[in-house]
Amino acid sequence: MPKFTPVTPVTTIKNGTAKPFTINGQDILIANLDGEFFAIEDRCSHEDSRLSLGCLKGDLIDCTLHGSRFNVKTGLPVEEPAVDPVRTFKVRIKNDMIEIDPGSL
Ligand code: FES
Repeated sequence: MPKFTPVTPVTTIKNGTAKPFTINGQDILIANLDGEFFAIEDRCSHEDSRLSLGCLKGDLIDCTLHGSRFNVKTGLPVEEPAVDPVRTFKVRIKNDMIEIDPGSL
């Protein structure tokens, strides 16, 4: 059963941007793509770098350390050196709040 946790109002993440949050000790990045919200682990799968330091372009966010890019919808890397995906989390909107299930994959 998903256990959704309210994170932030939908208005705090503008279209085309992403913001970091810590939910239940888990660093999570939430991106707004045309009013649809996606959540991934805020940690590069290559080494220990926060993806929220990078730039979101379309549905890709880049890692500032070695340049890998990840799709925020799927968590999949599209550029080396990272080869492993990062975790993705279920997102829902309830009462104009973004809610995440931090236990979901
Ligand atoms: S730490 Fe992200 S590409 Fe190396």
